[in-house]
Amino acid sequence: MTDQTPLWRVQLSAGPDAVEAFGAALEPLCDSVSWIADGDDIQGVWTLNAFLGVEPDRGLIAAALASAASAAGVAAPEFTIRREQPRDWLAENMKSFPPRRIGRFFIIGTRDPSPVPEGVVELRLNPGAAFGSGEHATTAGCLMAIDAFSGGQRQARVLDMGCGSGILSLGAAKSCRAQVVAADSDPKAVAVSRRNMIRNKVHRQVRTVLAHRGDCRAIRDSGPYDLIVSNILARPLRRMARTLSPNLRPGGVLVLSGFLIRDAARVAGAYRPFGLRILDRIDIDGWRTLVLVRS
Ligand SMILES: C[S@@+](CC[C@H](N)C(=O)[O-])C[C@H]1O[C@@H](n2cnc3c(N)ncnc32)[C@H](O)[C@@H]1O
Repeated sequence: MTDQTPLWRVQLSAGPDAVEAFGAALEPLCDSVSWIADGDDIQGVWTLNAFLGVEPDRGLIAAALASAASAAGVAAPEFTIRREQPRDWLAENMKSFPPRRIGRFFIIGTRDPSPVPEGVVELRLNPGAAFGSGEHATTAGCLMAIDAFSGGQRQARVLDMGCGSGILSLGAAKSCRAQVVAADSDPKAVAVSRRNMIRNKVHRQVRTVLAHRGDCRAIRDSGPYDLIVSNILARPLRRMARTLSPNLRPGGVLVLSGFLIRDAARVAGAYRPFGLRILDRIDIDGWRTLVLVRS
């Protein structure tokens, strides 16, 4: 199937700290934005790709990047804009989003006809414009923690703060029939999550909400939770400690990810005053997932 829909790609290279700021600046202007380290060195150069279905306005892109660069205290990046050739999107998508197994979970694209192994928990997913295909080490770390948690749990209450594609909510809903609140501050992610829950027929178990703080009413009213997962970034996770922690029941488990090993102590430290101590650590490719328990 070759899709003749026009598509433009904006591309740039940047260091690990600046690339995130550039991605955030381009998100409102583009249909999809993602960035990946060139090679194994996550401290090295990253490539950012943004895609649009209409020809981008070079001036707007340049202004957004210049403003993000100035806020981050770095030089405005060079970038290219080019029109993509028509491609076989289904074949490419299947190549770039191959089925993958993480713990008991089997993550597979919505239209991928590959056979599903026996005994797995199948997560049918189209990440669309949202983060969360299972490929990133932080998502994998969270899924491994959910897998360990769900072994002994039935119908737990779960909060997925920063749900992206909804992959973690889906994992919790399917592995232990949890009642889940999937929250994100990005309306696009909330919409993508909702679609993925419907595709997997767990939309009655998973409520998708637009929220940016742990003390939003939509989150508080469905708590306290047995499990909270949040894969965001070190700084917002530290800031969120005060509003997120009270939503966890005593003895409940908090899974935090989205930061490098070197930043983990500072993230854990922000949660210590709220009675959370480290139970486990999952390290993948330099990224750490923390499993904490509330005393
Ligand atoms: C790295 S993605 C994680 C997606 C998915 N949970 C996973 O593990 O792959 C982080 C998500 O958190 C959302 N986010 C960032 N800050 C947030 C906040 N303060 N409150 C809620 N969601 C937030 C972003 O919009 C994004 O969808």
